[in-house]
Amino acid sequence: MARIIVDGEPIAFDDGDSVALSLMRAGQVPGHGGCLCLAGDCPNCVAEVDGVAWVRTCQTRARAGMVVRRHPAIGAPSPITNVSARATTVRHRHADVVVVGNGDSGQRAARDALDDGQHVIVLDAAGGDEVVGIFAGPTVVVRNVDAIAHVHAQLVIVATGAAELQPTCPGNALAGIVTARAAGALAQAGIDLGRAIVVGAAPAGVLGESVDGTLVRFEVSALRPGSVGAVVVRTDDGVEHVHPCDTAIVALGRSPRDVLARMAATDSAVRVVGPAADAFDLPPCPTSGTVCPCSRVEVDDLAGAWGRGFHDLELIKRATLCGTGTCQGAVCVPHLRAFVADRSGTTPAPFTARPAARQLTMGEASTNVFIDTCRRTALHDEHVRLGATMDRWGGWWRPWHYGDHVAEYWAVREAVSLGDVSTLGKMIVSGPDALALLERLYPTTISDIAPGRSRYVLLLNERGHVFDDGMVCRESDDRFVLTFTSGGAAGAEMWLRDWIETWGLDVRVLDRTMALAAINVTGPLASELMGRVGLSAPLRFLEHRHDIVAGVPCHVMRLSFTGEASYELHHGIDRSVELWRALLDAGRDLGVRPHGLQALFGLRLEKGHVIVGADTELDTTPRRIAMDWAVKMGKGDFVGRTALARTASLPDGRRLVGLTIDGPAPTEGAPIVIGTEIAGLVTSSFASPLLGQTVMLGWLRTAWSPEHPPAMVTVDGRVAALTATPFYDRKGSRARA
Ligand code: FES
Repeated sequence: MARIIVDGEPIAFDDGDSVALSLMRAGQVPGHGGCLCLAGDCPNCVAEVDGVAWVRTCQTRARAGMVVRRHPAIGAPSPITNVSARATTVRHRHADVVVVGNGDSGQRAARDALDDGQHVIVLDAAGGDEVVGIFAGPTVVVRNVDAIAHVHAQLVIVATGAAELQPTCPGNALAGIVTARAAGALAQAGIDLGRAIVVGAAPAGVLGESVDGTLVRFEVSALRPGSVGAVVVRTDDGVEHVHPCDTAIVALGRSPRDVLARMAATDSAVRVVGPAADAFDLPPCPTSGTVCPCSRVEVDDLAGAWGRGFHDLELIKRATLCGTGTCQGAVCVPHLRAFVADRSGTTPAPFTARPAARQLTMGEASTNVFIDTCRRTALHDEHVRLGATMDRWGGWWRPWHYGDHVAEYWAVREAVSLGDVSTLGKMIVSGPDALALLERLYPTTISDIAPGRSRYVLLLNERGHVFDDGMVCRESDDRFVLTFTSGGAAGAEMWLRDWIETWGLDVRVLDRTMALAAINVTGPLASELMGRVGLSAPLRFLEHRHDIVAGVPCHVMRLSFTGEASYELHHGIDRSVELWRALLDAGRDLGVRPHGLQALFGLRLEKGHVIVGADTELDTTPRRIAMDWAVKMGKGDFVGRTALARTASLPDGRRLVGLTIDGPAPTEGAPIVIGTEIAGLVTSSFASPLLGQTVMLGWLRTAWSPEHPPAMVTVDGRVAALTATPFYDRKGSRARA
């Protein structure tokens, strides 16, 4: 006889048995007690099957060798098991009408649709189709043994029938309690129920003693701890009667099996028919016992929430978690509604259910879903159309080059070029305390930035270490536009809000990173191109203003990362392609072409501009990268000031230095050697077409004195010279032109 393994013990099963039936055939229960419905309506049979938790064992066919583990009696099963990944695919099916449920009402609905000449699909858990949810479309998501099916239809008919009411009274969490239908299924499977007491009408084919009266409680068996030993009912004369039993069968009435109906927006595309749409009588108001077996909510918990003022069904649900578990209220909703109706005098509507109606594995939930964690700018397709090789940088897909990075380089140095800088972080900060906030955040002075002007800023953490950089553009007394690096943008808003909250300031923050695109127009002919596309008047270096460029509203910032005159155009992402094409068209005879990151990194390296995160380390201070000029220690307190003041007098032999070398660019990360000792590493290198040699930035950390560094070091087996930065245009006149 074939066996399944349950908590390490082999258990024989009959052909066709579900896992739950196999266990009950062996005199056990699949969980830790509670009334079993054997119809998929309750949480009392869920267990881990072949490494997947929350499986309804009453709806899972037993298979030889299947490994079943009961969930822990207290707490939840581990979300991570040793299950070996099983390939799951998505199948798409299409029909005019999908009927969920193959009972009487489902069969009737299917027949009607077929008679109308419609293509019909019927889904039923008993046939291996577990409906997980009904989504917009409508699309019905279904779990099969080996796949997830997306069933697309014109009309979904929910014909899921009715569930049986479960008992809510003391002792209802004991094992050995079953509903009438479950008792019928057990009898049909030839499973001996022992002495069975039936509360309500005895189901057909079940040998049991029907008792009169209202259910009062279940009593525990003296011989089988945790299992029912007696049913207590009260007759109309008020007398309690104790009926010893091995199995308690409850026939307490029915309620609509409406989880899917409560989940779907029932409109013209989703209809509910049959008992699933019926209004059944509510059970009596519960007074004691477990009302929600999923979340183990007792009637006392409901009463406590009511006493604290939660009188709405949805509020009680949230205050107690009643109805938030595996069965989504299938068991508890009738009792909960009866509880509220009894106290308020009004019967509330049932609450909404949410997908998934059946627990999914992460694999099933993510099947056929491919998420590219790198974002795309609004110009992504333009770059691809222009032949760009795209690469990931700072969490975005960026053009690395358009086929010839040297030509792109020369376009910037000698003509005009476009760069997509949409990835920069962009934030609006405003409010009465905006200036106070920025003064305390940034190490440079903010108050003397006039409206219409901007300033480069470093961002320091409390240890005085550089973690980002950007620009501060002042728009008015109490409104600023901030930019951050592409990699730093994600954390920028949190950083701002944390400090605003810490200091209790009155400031508004609006993150516009994803709403705005940005194009950098750079090169000695950039001003000429900007004039052609309608910039109303030239901007001086570090000025900014709102203007219309090629018909597109832009926030125009005059700055420079490449070392040439540059205009950064921030604009709505919906107009980005239009602006990009207009700039390329208008600058055709100026030799305009786009440049990618490969050229950009070389251009900025010639200027000695640091890329935070690439050239910096986690403990980089402004002093170590020779950017003390960006810190005003005398301006008052700011984040990182205390640490900088404390470490200022400490010896520090680590510096980011400029280097030049003849020949090809060494690999970034190459060691810098003094004598025979490794004294640092190269962080950036670029064979400069203009300078005719390779320029580098690199960390030098050894016992040499910063005031008297060695003139020569070795990189890549070649002699390299320490060279002051910037390597190009030391006076910065080109950027200001
Ligand atoms: S016994 Fe399986 S869902 Fe109720």
